[in-house]
Amino acid sequence: MSKVLSIHNLHVAIAGKEILKGVDLTIRQGEVHALMGPNGSGKSTLSYALMGHPSYEVTEGSVTLDGRDLLALEPDERAKAGLFLAFQYPTAIPGVTVASFLRQAVTNIRHPDRKEGEDLIPMRDFRKELREQMDELGMDQEFARRYLNEGFSGGEKKRAEVLQLAMLRPAFAILDETDSGLDIDAVRVVSEGVNRFAAKHTTGILVITHYQRILNYIKPGFVHILFGGRIVENGGPELVDVLETQGYDWVREKYPEAARDEDEMEKQHAPLKQLAF
Ligand SMILES: Nc1ncnc2c1ncn2[C@@H]1O[C@H](COP(=O)(O)OP(=O)(O)O)[C@@H](O)[C@H]1O
Ligand SMILES: [Mg+2]
Repeated sequence: MSKVLSIHNLHVAIAGKEILKGVDLTIRQGEVHALMGPNGSGKSTLSYALMGHPSYEVTEGSVTLDGRDLLALEPDERAKAGLFLAFQYPTAIPGVTVASFLRQAVTNIRHPDRKEGEDLIPMRDFRKELREQMDELGMDQEFARRYLNEGFSGGEKKRAEVLQLAMLRPAFAILDETDSGLDIDAVRVVSEGVNRFAAKHTTGILVITHYQRILNYIKPGFVHILFGGRIVENGGPELVDVLETQGYDWVREKYPEAARDEDEMEKQHAPLKQLAF
């Protein structure tokens, strides 16, 4: 049985101001969804709220992962329950290599009851698995010895992310690509990774983006438009083409109430610093 991530009537506020105004979204393992929307429509707010960032207050609604109340879980418990958020570790961690970071992360996920200080998964098994995954992804083994995110290009950060996905094999992955200024190499890396996981039908993926470009490489089965803090349209890949050729004007006309909220949010929207966790 495939697992289900179910978001129902989700309202989220930041500093007392409502940003998400009732989001409904259901993702099953093996499905690839794209969430699109203009800047300031609330896309990243959704990923932060799912991640459990303390500044994002859920005021109404529910999120369940396979029937479990996700919102009742601490961020690390959400990861153990099977939710992966790509930008969870965006910064460089001094002195920590990609391999040692992954060994810790894999141990945390596979042995949720392990106490701090207890053994990590055996080095020999871990190395073997890492080597296999890197081979499959066409990565140079040398990459695992680099310090995580230190001097990484956009493409290399994405490679680390995709490798993390391959090693952790979460039930659901949310990839917020909005603010990362992806170069074409990075777009390619993410897309190939997503397509690969989708083909294996093991992970349900939500790609959040305002770039149509990435969707030339990833072919989502489901596309949702977030506008003014709510999902106003649900469709298939054809929605990507509609947005590409017609932009958001028709959305604005069709959903005047959402358009009013969108205008207000856009006014206040300034490129936000990636919030530290
Ligand atoms: N940390 C924050 N503090 C205050 N307002 C925020 C914060 N994060 C987001 N917002 C506001 O929430 C709205 C949606 O932002 P965001 O979710 O980042 O949009 P998107 O990812 O779609 O560009 C914007 O109006 C923005 O100003
Ligand atoms: Mg964003």
